[in-house]
Amino acid sequence: MSPTSKTIAVFASGNGSNLQAIIDAIHNKTLDAKIAVVLSDQNNAYALTRATTHHIPTLIVQKHSTETRDAHTARIVEALTPYSASLICLAGYMRIIGAPLLEAYPNRIINIHPSLLPAYPGLHSIERAFADHVRETGCTIHRVDSGMDTGTILAQTRVPILSNDTLDTLTARIHDAEHVLYPATIQKILNPISAS
Ligand code: GRF
Repeated sequence: MSPTSKTIAVFASGNGSNLQAIIDAIHNKTLDAKIAVVLSDQNNAYALTRATTHHIPTLIVQKHSTETRDAHTARIVEALTPYSASLICLAGYMRIIGAPLLEAYPNRIINIHPSLLPAYPGLHSIERAFADHVRETGCTIHRVDSGMDTGTILAQTRVPILSNDTLDTLTARIHDAEHVLYPATIQKILNPISAS
């Protein structure tokens, strides 16, 4: 295994609680990995503050209003290359991934989504499941392709919707499940023998 093979990049546009779960799992040694860089398309993302607090390098690559998705993504590839990431983990990164990144990191980009895919892809997944009164929802880790939450499913956690749930209590339980599932799945991808 090459020295960089457990080196990951995390992409986040917002709060970064899943980034925090990955950082914590590395610190408590349940995840054998190194975060080389946290990249955001938003200069005020709280995820950047979390990274800086833990002395993790950050990159901000905002999309210019006149720029195409592919042009923005090509700039991301260029900025990311020096960090030699073997895996890119999207954690609340609110953009479709363009072709230049998919081509530069084939089968090496994963995402976390707050539903049991293929149910409720896209935005507001928790709200839509709650409004539909389905009996369960959950979270999914999947490989990223050019579609919206359409790549191969790698892992899922089911979360029942309880009769006394509010949107807030359900959201909190899904996030709790995400914070367990994401580090565990990254560990299995990077360390398949020790995690089995
Ligand atoms: C998570 O619910 C994740 O599934 C979705 O975006 C949310 C990000 O939350 N893709 P956070 O920024 O990690 O707190």
